[in-house]
Amino acid sequence: MTAKPAAPSAQVHISELRRMRDAGERIACLTCYDASFALIEDRAGVDVILIGDSLGMVIHGRNSTTAVTVADIAYHSRAVAPHLKRAFLVADLPFLSFATRERALDASQRLMQEGGAKMVKLEGGREQADIVEYLSVRGVPVCAHLGLQPQLIHKMGAFKVQGRDNAAAEAMLHDARILEEAGADMLLLECVPSKLGKQITDAAQVPVIGIGAGPDVSGQILVLHDILNISPMVTLGRTPRFVQNFMQGGADIETAIRAYVQAIKSGAYPAPEHCF
Ligand code: KIV
Repeated sequence: MTAKPAAPSAQVHISELRRMRDAGERIACLTCYDASFALIEDRAGVDVILIGDSLGMVIHGRNSTTAVTVADIAYHSRAVAPHLKRAFLVADLPFLSFATRERALDASQRLMQEGGAKMVKLEGGREQADIVEYLSVRGVPVCAHLGLQPQLIHKMGAFKVQGRDNAAAEAMLHDARILEEAGADMLLLECVPSKLGKQITDAAQVPVIGIGAGPDVSGQILVLHDILNISPMVTLGRTPRFVQNFMQGGADIETAIRAYVQAIKSGAYPAPEHCF
């Protein structure tokens, strides 16, 4: 068996993510939920690993993320964090865990101290600016997740592309500015037209990570089980447009994850067929 090449080994900090953004080096991000995949993703050169509340769907088999708790995210973070030599670990604040300042701070404390996360991610627009600022001034790095917010599924009824018309696009651009001013260190855009992904990225001073947000963002993220073609969505034939199966061609898992990282770095992913 040939040894796999080692990824560069210096630990990625937030300053390195900012440097990559400024230098136009694309940031490769991927979700992860356990130790075995943590070792592989870290070795394969994934820059940012997210303990996403998508675990409610791909690990726990629910049909939304709303049942995921802080304890769940902490549990999976504890499984992943000790195995990361290089990747930067972000953990999701699950549904309603940031409904008040106090809850947001408690949850972030738990995910950072117990879970080993270096940043927390929360879904929402300008209505979350107060929480973002409260966390940020207390030393909690925050990623603000805009666009499609899967935690709102029961209010929306269905997942769909966000920011399609001019008014909605303007509002999201404005939200991004407000969240950055409130102290967000990173933005994540889910399911928005490529044009809006570029506008928000051009206007931002922080890295902007996209999932279905087109090619002109600072980096890309997908759900691990989607790129391995094994998630319930894929199995049920409901693969989102932005997903690419990296197991095609019979790759082994580490080769597939390396191909994913390389496709992001080279700009081969996302291709036009993955964009809105
Ligand atoms: O929960 C998650 O995995 C996420 C990504 C899809 C961005 O939020």
